[in-house]
Amino acid sequence: MKRIPIVAGNWKMYKTVDEAKEFAHKVSGLHADKSQVDTVICAPFIALPALVDELKNVPVGIGAQNMHWEESGAYTGEVSPVMLESLGVQYVIIGHSERRQYFAETDETVNKKVKAAFAHNLAPIVCVGEDLTQREAGQTKDFVRKQVLAAVEGLTSVQAAKLIIAYEPIWAIGTGKSSSAQDAQDVISFIRTAVAGAFDQQVADQVRIQYGGSVKPENIASYMSETDIDGALVGGASLAPESFLKLVEAVVGGKTS
Ligand code: 13P
Repeated sequence: MKRIPIVAGNWKMYKTVDEAKEFAHKVSGLHADKSQVDTVICAPFIALPALVDELKNVPVGIGAQNMHWEESGAYTGEVSPVMLESLGVQYVIIGHSERRQYFAETDETVNKKVKAAFAHNLAPIVCVGEDLTQREAGQTKDFVRKQVLAAVEGLTSVQAAKLIIAYEPIWAIGTGKSSSAQDAQDVISFIRTAVAGAFDQQVADQVRIQYGGSVKPENIASYMSETDIDGALVGGASLAPESFLKLVEAVVGGKTS
């Protein structure tokens, strides 16, 4: 089963609209073959219209980093899936550990958002991952399985097959302490097995599962050489256009089948 790897940048709370436009100009020469790699930039909400516009003829998909699950309503400060869809946004990160930690997102709200994403033609990038205490206590797999099963609850097989899951161990995010490729492969193949249990093997074979946590142009190829790792969700190293382009090049060079 060939899965197309997906390299996604998560800009977090970085870049003004002008800085986002400057980035777009610098990556406008990208010639990524869509049969070899999907590339995505997940930017702050206010930069999304400019990025959609500037990159419309460039093979870079645009994603949000969060959204509400309702289509509209009295939810001050929130952005709805309808709004993102109408802009031409194609992806949305859901349940990033920073949202779970600082903004009280739960497995339940993650599940609502995943369903809302599918209802509005947005591809959800669902983040899961353990913290250091859980890792050291040997609870990684139990915890991650629980997060994954909660996120996919109630999805149809057709929807589940289109999921993108990002395994991001919290201790590896922004720390420079990346997981070894082998450890990431071990957890990611376990996640695939959990998806097979919740749906079936055919669905599990189609779900794309990224690794995230201190991924850089220098180490991304090691992750890509693992059979179950289908790309990366990259924070810091996605901010500079040169670095983002190098990440994509490393993936195209490192995984062609
Ligand atoms: P870093 O690549 O900066 O470690 O961030 C990872 C991340 O949280 C991506 O969502």
